[in-house]
Amino acid sequence: MAISTAIILGVGPEDGLGAALCKRFALLGKHILVAGRTKSKLDKVVSNIEANAGKATAFVTDSTCETQIKNLFDAANKIGPVDVAIYNVGNNFPGRIVGMDAEYFEAAWKACCFGGFLFGREAIRRMQSNNAGTILYTGASASLRGRAGFSAFNASKTALRTLAQAMAKEVGPEGIHVGHVVIDGLINGEKAHANYSDYAEQLGDEGMISIEGIVDAYEYLYKQPKTAWTFEVDVRTANENW
Ligand SMILES: NC(=O)c1ccc[n+]([C@@H]2O[C@H](COP(=O)([O-])OP(=O)(O)OC[C@H]3O[C@@H](n4cnc5c(N)ncnc54)[C@H](OP(=O)(O)O)[C@@H]3O)[C@@H](O)[C@H]2O)c1
Repeated sequence: MAISTAIILGVGPEDGLGAALCKRFALLGKHILVAGRTKSKLDKVVSNIEANAGKATAFVTDSTCETQIKNLFDAANKIGPVDVAIYNVGNNFPGRIVGMDAEYFEAAWKACCFGGFLFGREAIRRMQSNNAGTILYTGASASLRGRAGFSAFNASKTALRTLAQAMAKEVGPEGIHVGHVVIDGLINGEKAHANYSDYAEQLGDEGMISIEGIVDAYEYLYKQPKTAWTFEVDVRTANENW
């Protein structure tokens, strides 16, 4: 029988959430389609998985391009049935409304929401024939509330969450589990230390969310039986003021 595949779209640095999701689902015996925009980053993740006797293929994909998303799913299906599809794309898009270009707002929506629609639609099309599969979306604090200076990101992440909820209701009866993970705080990874070093230092390890802890939430959702599905899990540190 062909090995089943897991597609993880939105993979960046080795010490990042996308990469950690790839490594975890490889340990669960899936062939991983390691997908994102930057080939050098994807290759590093593939090498790491292969060094641990796992199976993985890098696939350069921009989540806002319909053709590229279709090609990604076709490539996965050639290896084996798509069992897991995770949409992890969602770089922050900060900026105040009054000075914001229309194109910037649209780019945020395309990456954080529209890409999630293309991705989910292609996943459903592949999973329907098996009446099984798990589609998971990565959310943020922005998925639940608006904040000054982050309108483009807030609006797009909130829309993604609602899309995921509608999708969960539409395809649940067909055996496809759709879930959403709200990451409420800064992830303790390469990006925090590179882009927000002062803030990361101020928070310390206790004040940032551990990547492995977040990945546990995805594995939990994936392993749930059809008789006890969760749509959403939120993850934050004990110190978070929420
Ligand atoms: N970082 C945090 O503290 C934090 C907090 C809360 C929620 N989140 C959420 O967690 C998820 C992961 O975010 P992360 O920033 O920490 O990064 P990550 O998981 O380490 O990597 C995500 C990668 O997605 C890629 N990407 C961006 N736009 C893309 C597109 N249009 N098509 C394909 N790939 C694309 C980027 O690749 P390139 O490197 O090539 O640009 C980025 O490195 C996001 O959904 C984010 O909203 C993050």
